[in-house]
Amino acid sequence: MNITAIYGSPRKNGNTDLLLKAFLRGIKEHDVNVNEIFIRDLEFSPCIECGGCDNTGKCVLKDDMQSVYSLLTESDMVVFSAPVFFYGLNACAKAMVDRCQCFWVKKYLLNKKPGDVRGEKGKGVFLSVSGSKGKKNFDGIFLTVRYFFDVLNIDFTRYLVYRNIDSKGAVLKHPEIIEEACSLGRTIIEQS
Ligand SMILES: Cc1cc2nc3c(=O)[nH]c(=O)nc-3n(C[C@H](O)[C@H](O)[C@H](O)COP(=O)(O)O)c2cc1C
Repeated sequence: MNITAIYGSPRKNGNTDLLLKAFLRGIKEHDVNVNEIFIRDLEFSPCIECGGCDNTGKCVLKDDMQSVYSLLTESDMVVFSAPVFFYGLNACAKAMVDRCQCFWVKKYLLNKKPGDVRGEKGKGVFLSVSGSKGKKNFDGIFLTVRYFFDVLNIDFTRYLVYRNIDSKGAVLKHPEIIEEACSLGRTIIEQS
């Protein structure tokens, strides 16, 4: 089983990094192959709306996103972690999602079957935190992530989100959260 783990936060070893690492500790108890993507370390342009993908469903920008595309379409599971910034995804994570417009074109403009985007429907997991306790903190992000997974023919299988986690590493003060992420990694393969 191939798993792509996407670290979306600009903060190295921040809270969503720690959640994703805990998840991976759990899933690595199984026979899996994990590819990790650190978005903050990639060099890529935001989507420039050039229309270069309109006829083919393929992005024409030659940068680090090209290797991300193949991982996204070839893995059985995508695990995406990113924090809430201004009620949405942080900027570099959103830039990566926007660059998946080529998959939207493929699915909805070129009417390619999901199997043309990727093989069998994959599983999608989203992990997030917000600094405040606000009820609506994740509303915007959930919509974005749902449609990000949709264009990749990935089922939005599970999410874990936690409020009131702000300073770097604050999530470590909550061993029950780390355990929940690890446990989800351990059990997700059996879940539908
Ligand atoms: C630019 C910026 C915007 C933020 N916006 C929000 C917000 O709208 N709501 C919220 O609850 N927390 C917000 N936060 C707090 C982060 O969600 C919080 O610090 C989180 O723990 C960061 O996760 P990370 O360590 O994985 O990067 C913001 C933080 C920054 C730096």
